[in-house]
Amino acid sequence: MHTTNIQGVEVPSLGFGTFQLSGDDCQRGVEHALSVGYRHLDTAQAYDNEERVGAGMGRSGVDRAEIFLTTKLDSASLSRDRVEPAVADSLKKLRTDYVDLLLIHWPSRDTPTDETLAAMREVQEEGRVRQIGVSNFPPSQVEAALEEATIFCDQVEYHPFLGQERLRGLAVEHDFLLTAYAPLAQGGVMSDPTLEEIAEAHGASAAQVALRWLIAQDHVCAIPKATSPDRIESNLAALDLELSDEELRRVDGLERGGRVVDPDFAPDWED
Ligand SMILES: NC(=O)c1ccc[n+]([C@@H]2O[C@H](COP(=O)([O-])OP(=O)(O)OC[C@H]3O[C@@H](n4cnc5c(N)ncnc54)[C@H](OP(=O)(O)O)[C@@H]3O)[C@@H](O)[C@H]2O)c1
Repeated sequence: MHTTNIQGVEVPSLGFGTFQLSGDDCQRGVEHALSVGYRHLDTAQAYDNEERVGAGMGRSGVDRAEIFLTTKLDSASLSRDRVEPAVADSLKKLRTDYVDLLLIHWPSRDTPTDETLAAMREVQEEGRVRQIGVSNFPPSQVEAALEEATIFCDQVEYHPFLGQERLRGLAVEHDFLLTAYAPLAQGGVMSDPTLEEIAEAHGASAAQVALRWLIAQDHVCAIPKATSPDRIESNLAALDLELSDEELRRVDGLERGGRVVDPDFAPDWED
């Protein structure tokens, strides 16, 4: 498995996303992903699927120690007294003693980040959480968080149509992981003519080109979600694709600020 080294920890460069996967689809998807070689899973309390992710992990027979597992605190679980019970609940659902990475899912307007990070550090010290980090934090908020704690990751939307130059610079400077969510622009990459043309030259898919472009970058990993076994496998096969420098530059040129996840509670992304 191709990995990226962050703060001495090897993180598999391609993970399996589970947003909008529920019930049997989720359990089967996780089990299939692990059976074909994924070793990195992404879930969240807000996805309401941690039980199925845990069941899929259990059924796969893959040793827990081989899996890099991320979950995220939802907005109701960020205050000092709520973090520990929320983590205990997630671990029970996921059927595990620890998660590899615990993230603040979205910056909060109600609870100061330093309060949440302090409570997260306590569960980290107990070993129930190996690393802590954030998600959907724009550059200035990541810099503020870095003053409070050792931040392992910022998970943000990142794909060929949405660049993350400032955050990637910070990730390299401070040695944290930039996890690319919606790496396929929630399906949008599949119909891009440039990606299709590059893909065709390699007998590959536009999805594989987008994923390879992301993980070719230092300090970046990607967590595509797919439902069918074929797509789950095909996305992982992006690891076998080699793109030339010229092809990577052509993908760089697709940047157009094309954000697809922008709820009304989102932060000011340029902050
Ligand atoms: N931190 C956050 O706030 C946040 C926000 C969004 C997402 N995430 C995480 O990032 C993960 C990925 O993001 P996402 O699920 O929003 O979007 P995504 O991975 O960019 O795209 C998923 C979509 O692409 C389709 N797809 C996947 N592989 C394909 C292939 N090879 N060919 C054609 N279509 C394909 C899927 O269809 P099928 O499912 O029908 O196969 C699904 O509709 C999530 O699952 C979640 O774990 C985090």
